[in-house]
Formats: sequence, structure tokens, C-alpha cells
Amino acid sequence: MAIDSVISWGTAEVVASEEVAEGVRRVVLAPDRPVPARPGSHVDIRLAARDGEPGPASLTRSYSVVASEDGGRRLTLTVQLADPGRGGSRRVHALRVGDRLPVTAPLQNFPLGVGAARYVLLAGGIGLTATIAMARTLRARGADYRLVLAGRRREVLPYLDELAAEHGDRFTLHTEAEGGRLDVAALVSEVADGAHPGRTELYMCGPIAMMDAVRRAWADAALPPTNLRFETFGNSGSWEPQEFRVRVPRLGTTVQVTPGSTVLESLEAAGVAVMADCRKGECGLCVARVLDLEGRLDHRDVFLDDDQKAAGDRLCLCVSRVAVPDRAATRPTDTRTTDPAPCGVLTLELP
Ligand code: FES
Repeated sequence: MAIDSVISWGTAEVVASEEVAEGVRRVVLAPDRPVPARPGSHVDIRLAARDGEPGPASLTRSYSVVASEDGGRRLTLTVQLADPGRGGSRRVHALRVGDRLPVTAPLQNFPLGVGAARYVLLAGGIGLTATIAMARTLRARGADYRLVLAGRRREVLPYLDELAAEHGDRFTLHTEAEGGRLDVAALVSEVADGAHPGRTELYMCGPIAMMDAVRRAWADAALPPTNLRFETFGNSGSWEPQEFRVRVPRLGTTVQVTPGSTVLESLEAAGVAVMADCRKGECGLCVARVLDLEGRLDHRDVFLDDDQKAAGDRLCLCVSRVAVPDRAATRPTDTRTTDPAPCGVLTLELP
């Protein structure tokens, strides 16, 4: 299947913006040069800082296309405001009808296959946005599919009524608040013990911990690796994003990485050229060597394997971060303090 990977920038107007769940906004864009988006597509958008807003002047972020209507004249995105207000999501939530912004034509690195005997779509939290259009397409095809959504509580999950109405008992919701935590092992066993284990494809998007657990269970069950597909952006790490410092001794450079920006963006903003391509933790081009570390690495990529991540001697600059776990655990209990908590420090050798 063709993959739309050529980046073509244009401009779009915001034609709708509304809250569809707690902290989740639906934003509809009308591109000047419409291109229909296939299931699993995303767009990159550039988000400018508003007056006085901290962080980089421009952030580029990827968001799944939840719906593509009228030949791509209306592209629906759905964005969760990340705590503590990561830059990209905060800027999307600030968009209003009539705003114009740079947007790419739909890009595709999570294509929906054809011809599988069965499909399982697994979403964790706002990762749902990568699977909604797939579920709609599979239903239209008359395919055998399941849509499984796992989240903390239903109030923060968008479109639940619509999904239940559209997909009936093919849609399953697990929420921790209702004691319905997703059992990854059981889900994968169901595939392995099902009628077509070798012809069942599983597509997933959600927290990195969930996807890692599925990948391990999938391998343990000896299911075909090519039948397991995933979308990576929007991954949450093990800790909430914190501010930390990055040092590059060879260049004599030190930059501060805010919760709303990445190491890659912060280095680029300081004029440091870094090799990068996907900017989503997939290609490995931006992997840098860790020379020293104060804090813990919070890997958010899917490029490094478990052993490489455990070794702690490299990281993907485009998505991975540094956290001081105790600091995360105590934040933000006392707003009267001026945050004396320790800050992570990462010393790097660039690729
Ligand atoms: S640019 Fe591809 S993994 Fe970072």
C-alpha cells in the first residue's frame, strides 16, 4: 500500500473548535488545497506562539485525522490538553474559528491493510484519534473488526456515544475508574487462540507502556510481527514532562528544555544543527549518546528496543526526555513555593 510520506505544506483555516470531552478539543481545518485523508493519516501543523507565550516561536506537531470530509475540505483533529500544558496542545486549544495556520497535506505512516481475516484496533486514551477513521472504514467494508479503547475515566475520552452507536458490540471500553483496566495479555491471547491468528492484524496507538506490553505479548505468542502495526506520536512517557537542562560539551552549548518543547527543538532554537527526519521517535536519525545524566531517561520512542532503553546510554532527541521522578511525584502540591525541586541535567554527544 502506498504511503503518503512527502511533506507538502499549505495553509488551512480553522472552521470549528469545540470541547468534546474534559480537556479535549475537536478542531476542524479547511485546507486551501484539499487532499482527502485515508484512514490512519495525520497532518503536521505549525503552531505559533501568541503574545508573551513561553517556549519556541513555532512548534510543529502531528495530529491524526479523525475525519476527512468533502474530499479533504474539512479535516477533523481532536487534541487533548496535555498536563502540564505541553506547548503544542495548549496552542491547539487556543485556536479559534477564523485562525489560519500552516498545515501539511495528509501524511500516512499508519496505513490500514486490506485482506486480513480480522482486525483489532487498540487505542489508549487520546490514541483513539488514530483509530476512529480505521474503524469507520472497516465497518463500511463489512470487515470483521473490534475497536478496543482503554482510558483512565470516560469523562476524558471523546466520542464515546458516537462510537457505541456506530460500532455496537464491536466497540469495547475499559476504564480504570470503573475497574475495567485493559488486560493486554488476554487481548493478545484472544488473537492467538482465535480462528485466524496468522491473519489477524492489530493496530494500536496509545501510551508507550501499553504498546510495549502488547509488543511483548505479541512476540511471546509467536504471532507474525508484520501483523502488529502502531502509530507513535502522542505517546506519553513514564513521567509528566518536566523542564530540564541539556549540555553539549563539544559545542560548549547548554539549553533549557521546557515541558512544552523537545530536546531537538531546544537545540535547534539555539542554532545547533541536529540530524532528524521523522521527529516522532521512529527513524532513529536523531539518536544521541548520553555522556552523563542527572535524573532518569524517559524514553518515548519506538526506535530503540527494550535492551537499548534499559542501557540508558542513548536517546531519541525528538521525543525522549529527562525526568526527576521525585519531583514529578510532589508536583504540584504547593503552589506557594517557587519550585525548588531539582532539575534533570543531560549531557550529550550529538550524532
Ligand atoms: S527524528 Fe526520527 S527518531 Fe528522532
